[in-house]
Amino acid sequence: MVQTNQKITHLPDNNYSVKVSSDLRKIGLNPNFWYPLAQTKEVKVEKPYAVSFGGDPIVLIRTKSQQVFALEDRCAHRQIPLSMGIVCQNTIKCSYHAWEYNQTGKVVKVPYLPEGCPLPKGVKSYPCREAYGHIFVFPGTAKLAETVPFPDIKNWFSSDYKTMYFSRLVNCHYSFLKENLMDMNHQFLHRRFMGKVKPTLLENSKGDNWVEAKFKFRGEPHPSAKLVLAAGRKPESDSEDYDFDVMTITTEYPYQTLRVCPPGSDEPLLDLWVAYIPVDQEQKKNHSFGMLMIRKPKIPGLINLLWPLMRYFTNVIFAEDKMIVEAEQKAYDLQGGDWNQEIFPVLVDVRELLSQKGVPLT
Ligand code: FES
Ligand SMILES: [Fe+2]
Repeated sequence: MVQTNQKITHLPDNNYSVKVSSDLRKIGLNPNFWYPLAQTKEVKVEKPYAVSFGGDPIVLIRTKSQQVFALEDRCAHRQIPLSMGIVCQNTIKCSYHAWEYNQTGKVVKVPYLPEGCPLPKGVKSYPCREAYGHIFVFPGTAKLAETVPFPDIKNWFSSDYKTMYFSRLVNCHYSFLKENLMDMNHQFLHRRFMGKVKPTLLENSKGDNWVEAKFKFRGEPHPSAKLVLAAGRKPESDSEDYDFDVMTITTEYPYQTLRVCPPGSDEPLLDLWVAYIPVDQEQKKNHSFGMLMIRKPKIPGLINLLWPLMRYFTNVIFAEDKMIVEAEQKAYDLQGGDWNQEIFPVLVDVRELLSQKGVPLT
């Protein structure tokens, strides 16, 4: 990352109206990246699975030999979803007239076409990879897929961590959620669990494709929140004092991460990776995929005992965030535009980044 550190010394002295060159809610997520479109467990052998990216229907197919491929979910003949079809070895047959497609989307057989007749054109295929318990697809220009870095989520592989997965539909433009994650000034929303916690912005910085903010918290978190933070603490080296933990939240387009590290350590207690995938063409709905890697306590198996409580805490926080960002989307729809008066520099930077890196919605 190219660092252009900007410590906050003052708030903007204007009337807080923030100019983003275009309406952020009309900016689509750039399709030229690798995105999780389903969890591994959802795509079962020979059971086509329908997903979408920004209104483009995509079918994910797992063959008997565990190969996964992604095709446009629309038969080239009469546009029936191929996800209604039948998987045969390495091909899929449309359920209507049995046109058969291979993994590249090419029509390889039309059962009622006489031998030797040219076959009709097929459907689009998408670069597809299975990793981190998810099926990732490159929805943009396929030839760019090889050159665009695949997400690098190191702690997912570490046996020191246990991963909690999230997969939720949220009825809002993805940008509301991206702003929400970077915005630690909304602890009031989470007052039941985090009401006594006061965040302080330590520093914010940005580069060409990223924005980062570091926060410190003062005050006692709720016991269940404390549990999530306490579990992986190493008694010999990590302070018990939560006031000194540092939370680093990064938007590295198009993904986001949130890490909480004890003082002087770069081994996070919590390491969250999230991606919000627009579902519909207007991008007013998104599928949120997340992986929260929680450092395991020293006592073997203890994490499994604590897991339901940790799950409960994170579910409550996510439900509160979902409720509020969906209310933001409704307000936006009602007023027909973005009237935000954002005064927090981190969010101003995130909004700018999302505007610059996204693509206009048509
Ligand atoms: S609609 Fe798919 S084969 Fe006819
Ligand atoms: Fe929140």
